[in-house]
Amino acid sequence: MRADDSCVVNHPLWHGIGVPDDFLVEGDGVRVRDRSGRWYLDGRSTLWHGTLGHNHPKVIAAIQEQLNTLALGTLLIYDRPAEVTVRFAEALAAQLPDGLRRIRFGNTGSQMTEAAVLLSRYHRRITGERDRTAVITLWGSYHGQGAGATPLSGMLADRVDWCGPLLPDVHHAQYHGSWASSIAKVAARLGPDRVTAVVIEPVMGTTGVLAEQQDLAELAKYCRDNGIHLVADEVSTGYGRVGALSRSVQLGVVPDMLVLAKGITAGYLPAAALVVNERIYQDLKDAEPFPHGSTTDGNPLAAAAGLAVLDVLFGDGLIDTVIPKGEVLRKALEQQGFDVAHAGLLQRVALPGQTFDQVSKLRRACEDNGLLVSAGLGCLCVLPPLVITEDDCREIAERLGGARG
Ligand SMILES: Cc1ncc(COP(=O)(O)O)c(C=O)c1O
Repeated sequence: MRADDSCVVNHPLWHGIGVPDDFLVEGDGVRVRDRSGRWYLDGRSTLWHGTLGHNHPKVIAAIQEQLNTLALGTLLIYDRPAEVTVRFAEALAAQLPDGLRRIRFGNTGSQMTEAAVLLSRYHRRITGERDRTAVITLWGSYHGQGAGATPLSGMLADRVDWCGPLLPDVHHAQYHGSWASSIAKVAARLGPDRVTAVVIEPVMGTTGVLAEQQDLAELAKYCRDNGIHLVADEVSTGYGRVGALSRSVQLGVVPDMLVLAKGITAGYLPAAALVVNERIYQDLKDAEPFPHGSTTDGNPLAAAAGLAVLDVLFGDGLIDTVIPKGEVLRKALEQQGFDVAHAGLLQRVALPGQTFDQVSKLRRACEDNGLLVSAGLGCLCVLPPLVITEDDCREIAERLGGARG
């Protein structure tokens, strides 16, 4: 269907929304069915956010129960939060490292990455460093879209002026095999005392490149030594995807701010969190309120879903199964002859030298072979729901191998 034929004008303004038979109508566990009746193994967790798959009984029951008790709420004003939202914050904080437990809730990852850099700048204003406004991210990174998030996303840098001016004083570092040195180079050019925040994804979503433990530790040290806030955008890598709540923490680095979204409600309802460290919180707690937020921040239905997700991950122990299942998936993909880099159930299948169009062709061939995966730059990204079985992991590899021919 062409965009002109449809009332839906989000993405389709450019690309059309596919033919009606492709529309998805049913989900069950790690599989989805389209209108034509075909089932697919959902190897991209819808858009990386369906971490517990479709129809998860605990999440559904939690939302239904909340729907019947208190469905509405806000954190924006009036000091009357829904109790379930406060409980959710406490349960989430209990899984976070000491000193990184102050949580702002929002609705999307984009809203929260933007909040992180604005909060960083606001903190400078309060602590008397008004000239520290520069922000550094990597070329090719993705941190969402919006007046603040689009400029942060290095992969969208060529589009920043299309509807600009957007958030100014955002700079991008070219990745040269090391997060720390690539970013330090740009910070040195700007003057490190001009830099308020560095925003990173510990695994780059567009290329699937993984930050090494030592590299991340060096970056954290550089930021610490130069008074720069390190913001870990873990919208994609957080919430169990790599077998931990946070990839940075798993690698031994506690950032100054942590952004979580996608898996926070396993994708069932919009929610996101910006977690800030104790020092920033203490500096700001008696200042004028930070001017950033939305009506539905801390929505009770999302909070109930979030509590259920934590219960499944930590109470049922699902999070402990992610690394072993990731190993099964990696080995199965390697047996099909693929070159794989992976962290838990976030796996990058390298397709060296292939253009994005070629990668997209293979992605479509996978769909014809009953498997949904993500296309990246020079790679396919495979990231199934964490509830996947080992047999399903092997099926992914077979279907991917079959699609390549
Ligand atoms: C690393 C990262 N940051 C931010 C975002 C934006 O999140 P949202 O789409 O919820 O606004 C995404 C979404 O894909 C992401 O992968």
